[in-house]
Amino acid sequence: MTIDRTALEDTARTMVAKSRGILAADESNATMTKRLEAAGVESTPESRRAFRGLMFTAEGAADHISGVIMYDETIRQATDGGTPFPELLASMGILPGIKVDTGAKPLAGFPSETVTEGLDGLRDHLSEHRELGARFAKWRAVITTCDGRPTRGCIAANAHALARYAGLCQEAGIVPIVEPEVLMHGDHSIDRSEEVTAAVLRAVFEQLAEQRVLLEAVVLKPNMLLAGYDCPEQAGVEEVAERTLACLSRVVPAAVPGIAFLSGGQSDERAAAHLNAMNRIGGVPWELTFSYGRALVAAPLKAWAADTSTPARAQTAFLHRARCNSAARMGVYAESMEHAQLVA
Ligand code: 13P
Repeated sequence: MTIDRTALEDTARTMVAKSRGILAADESNATMTKRLEAAGVESTPESRRAFRGLMFTAEGAADHISGVIMYDETIRQATDGGTPFPELLASMGILPGIKVDTGAKPLAGFPSETVTEGLDGLRDHLSEHRELGARFAKWRAVITTCDGRPTRGCIAANAHALARYAGLCQEAGIVPIVEPEVLMHGDHSIDRSEEVTAAVLRAVFEQLAEQRVLLEAVVLKPNMLLAGYDCPEQAGVEEVAERTLACLSRVVPAAVPGIAFLSGGQSDERAAAHLNAMNRIGGVPWELTFSYGRALVAAPLKAWAADTSTPARAQTAFLHRARCNSAARMGVYAESMEHAQLVA
């Protein structure tokens, strides 16, 4: 099958276009249930629809958000007025996206390591999701750093799966977000984080080449280089930014149009500050933006849980985070922006 390279490359560039980034609203039902219940809200298809819907319909969201990653349940849901979410987003100039992996499962023979699954039947799923309006997809590999981990076997299995997924996406006219996440949990140093992240990315790009994936139509979604959250020595914002860019420069080909970072459990402010510092340094061949879940969604969820009858408050909280990260994506974020949030 021949692929429409131009259309794919256009979509990838739109995903990482100036001043905008990606909203990862694709938590699985199990993860979203944990998040909603922790906030004191019952998790039902309707509560998940209502919460996602209030973010998608926030006025002005398209100024800051280029694409939204949805979960299978969400891409089939609609606004209060009955407009399917993908149709609503497309009408706002936001690209609809879909998470297609089925999660990280124990890797046989490798205790405490996982491989992300979902390749079986993926060609058919992608074709259905494209019919539903998806223009890009996401697959997340999860790598843990600990004594003796990650193993080469775990890195290889995940890199291979990511590349097989990416090839199938492009065949279906869908841009793959390739997400090899090196978790920030643990007590490892930033040096170790660099060593592991570089090894994982090297393996991923080798596999992408092997599987004939068009790099011009891929968006990479990596972790930033931080010391593990339990490490007593934490790097400052500038060091994180410099070391992340230095590491990526060694291993990410210039043909990749953009890098959209995950937030990975950093505070909202840190996630913005790190992205901002990287964009201020600049000098790299790719666009640098965000594809944040928690760093965009946690604040509106808290506001909504406090009073589900006034979604406007949650929308204000969401737009504030979107605006801060959009500024960070342009290198013009300042901590003072955090105090400028308007109360709905
Ligand atoms: P976080 O920004 O919360 O890490 O989520 C991003 C994501 O999509 C993880 O797959």
